[in-house]
Amino acid sequence: MKAPLTATLLLLRHSLAKNADPPYDSLEHVQPHATANSIFGTLDSLMLRADERIPLPKAKLCGGEKEEEEPERVLKGRFIHITDFHPDPHYITGGSFDSGCHRTAGEDLVDESLRMSSGFGSSNTISQYTNVTGVDIDNKKDKKDEGAGKWGSGLSDCDSPMSLVNLTFDWLQKEWANEVDFVVWTGDNARHDIDREMPRTPKEIYELNRMMTGKMRQAFGEDVVIVPSIAHNILQPGPNAVTNEFSNIWSDFIPSEEYHIFQRGAYYSSEVIPDRLAVISLNTIYWYDSNKAVDGCKDGSDEPGALEFDWLEVQLDSFRERGMQVWLTGHVPPHMGSYFDNCYLRYGELALRYQDTIVGHLYGHQNVDHFFFIDVEELESTTGFAGKAAKATVFDQRKKSFGRNTDTALQQALYKDFGDMPKVDKMKLEDYTVINVSPSVIPTYLPGIRVYNYNVTGLKLDEDGFTGSDMSSQTVLPSAQKRKTGHRHKKKKKKKDDCSKPEHEDQPHCKFRRKERHFSPESPSRANTLFTPLGYTQFYLPEVDEQTHSPPKWIIEYATYSPEGLLRGGRNGTDGDVQGRQPVPWHLLPGYHEFIEREEAAAQETPESSDNRTLKGHDKDDEDPYTRFKAGLRKITPYHMEDLTIPSYAHFAKKLTSQKRLWKRFASAM
Ligand SMILES: *[C@@H]1O[C@H](CO)[C@@H](O)[C@H](O)[C@H]1NC(C)=O
Ligand SMILES: *[C@@H]1O[C@H](CO)[C@@H](O)[C@H](O)[C@H]1NC(C)=O
Ligand SMILES: *[C@@H]1O[C@H](CO)[C@@H](O)[C@H](O)[C@H]1NC(C)=O
Ligand SMILES: *[C@@H]1O[C@H](CO)[C@@H](O)[C@H](O)[C@H]1NC(C)=O
Ligand SMILES: *[C@@H]1O[C@H](CO)[C@@H](O)[C@H](O)[C@H]1NC(C)=O
Repeated sequence: MKAPLTATLLLLRHSLAKNADPPYDSLEHVQPHATANSIFGTLDSLMLRADERIPLPKAKLCGGEKEEEEPERVLKGRFIHITDFHPDPHYITGGSFDSGCHRTAGEDLVDESLRMSSGFGSSNTISQYTNVTGVDIDNKKDKKDEGAGKWGSGLSDCDSPMSLVNLTFDWLQKEWANEVDFVVWTGDNARHDIDREMPRTPKEIYELNRMMTGKMRQAFGEDVVIVPSIAHNILQPGPNAVTNEFSNIWSDFIPSEEYHIFQRGAYYSSEVIPDRLAVISLNTIYWYDSNKAVDGCKDGSDEPGALEFDWLEVQLDSFRERGMQVWLTGHVPPHMGSYFDNCYLRYGELALRYQDTIVGHLYGHQNVDHFFFIDVEELESTTGFAGKAAKATVFDQRKKSFGRNTDTALQQALYKDFGDMPKVDKMKLEDYTVINVSPSVIPTYLPGIRVYNYNVTGLKLDEDGFTGSDMSSQTVLPSAQKRKTGHRHKKKKKKKDDCSKPEHEDQPHCKFRRKERHFSPESPSRANTLFTPLGYTQFYLPEVDEQTHSPPKWIIEYATYSPEGLLRGGRNGTDGDVQGRQPVPWHLLPGYHEFIEREEAAAQETPESSDNRTLKGHDKDDEDPYTRFKAGLRKITPYHMEDLTIPSYAHFAKKLTSQKRLWKRFASAM
């Protein structure tokens, strides 16, 4: 990626990510230490409570030696990624958009122009919307006087009404509580501070987070490991009021041995499958260049962002030593346009140096469904030296040069980026990593939730060590490192910068000279093996804007699999050797109930009646119910990805830029 994309993303961060609360929301500016201590007790008492209350994840794996008493926990091979709820208890149905859906407009007309000009409503987006939701745009205009919708207001600046929050948790509990192993929850659980008449207080942020934590726990029960991450609420290094309060709110989720580290920086690791698979919850706000309370990640500095990377590196090293796999998760995705340059470089460096240990990267914040690559070539073109001032200037210039039609800007940037990538067989896959950005629950666009399926085939507790340790992982020692100019910008590429100069020391060709790289074509991020993400199914709420009496339903928007892949595991999920092989339970697939009815009807048919049908030559009705069911899944399975490894994403990216229709489909889901 190169300058234009940087610029684009800089802009996107500001205009698309409506949840990008500006730093002045900092709780720390508002809430001094003393207050926090008096409200929430001293550090010591917190620690005691934390130690008492935080159990290790109670993962009991199927097939292992059964221990007495403890119920066996069967792994489902699924987890949920959910992000950006933004609950707003003040939201009222019929509220005006200029009040943030907090008050009815009374005699004043609802300011529809605000809704449409709020930066989310390019006409392009609206027509996509109209198509997806089936809501006629003119009809919508007619309804403008009604103001805020009962279940949410797409394309507005309003947050999520409690009706939307409740219906979502009801659905999560009903459909997923017993079907997933863990939940990655990447933040933003308070309303935005957009209503001047009703300023959001730190206390309210805590209360909303506490409420959401309670709902999460209630929906998923005790057995599902939940891994929340901090979003915009902490700007300065801890321990402070914010880390105190959040370690209290999340005391069930933060492992006790991680308590101290959380107190310091609001990041931690959670072993979602003990000794096998961990989720690292990162505090991205120390790396986010809008945070004026910090100054990047200069190596060896005391900046909280640098310390966080030092910690992360130790974590990755230790998980690697233990033969474990790790998900990196957090709120703001590691875009070059969002992070301080040297933080971005450090992230990319670790992502690539531990490619055999990091199984994937999950982020939220942007509200827009997409993925992107970080690669060596792109990192090389990022200068790690740009300090705060330089960056700010660059940013200001760029901000001016872009309009607000940002969704197409992101589409174009990705299209160009994917197109610029070399053919897959020419790619050095160890130089790439994939960042997944999930859509949000808040209906900025249509609410979305992802259910990932990952490989747990043959996983047994009593196995000695990790099967993955058999993989012949390559560790490139600093001295053995051979550097070559990358392929993507060969023509433009100047000679590699001199590593003895401090401004270049963070670039990969210098970094990799000093530090080991670990990668393997057999690692779970590169090939389908234990813990490899196999795909995800994205659910959405297309009817969120409609004023229906009964709650709108979460349904499948698309899945990354082929129809066969989506049906893997068979109807009851009992095919194969282990538990729940289905990417999603079949009853959630479109056409499932018709399929069952047809099957039952077919089973009841007498030979005579079936003779009749054959004679009459009924075309469609004669089709095997299963074949028909499978064919019906084509609409939601446009991508046919084998799995979510780096090579699969590389193939997919190239396919997207070579198949116009596929690209259109992809872009329409963003
Ligand atoms: C809307 O959907 C119809 C078919 O349902 C399609 O023909 C049309 O091109 C779509 N419009 C847009 C803007 O995508
Ligand atoms: C949401 O659920 C809570 C209880 O779980 C209830 O008290 C509240 O009234 C509900 N709100 C709405 C708008 O449904
Ligand atoms: C999981 O990985 C194993 C190899 O370790 C492979 O044989 C198996 O097919 C994979 N499972 C799925 C569901 O893809
Ligand atoms: C699968 O489910 C169907 C319908 O619920 C049931 O009739 C059938 O016996 C099940 N098959 C197996 C192998 O459990
Ligand atoms: C089969 O066809 C015969 C004659 O057309 C008809 O009388 C009979 O009702 C049919 N059976 C069924 C089950 O439709």
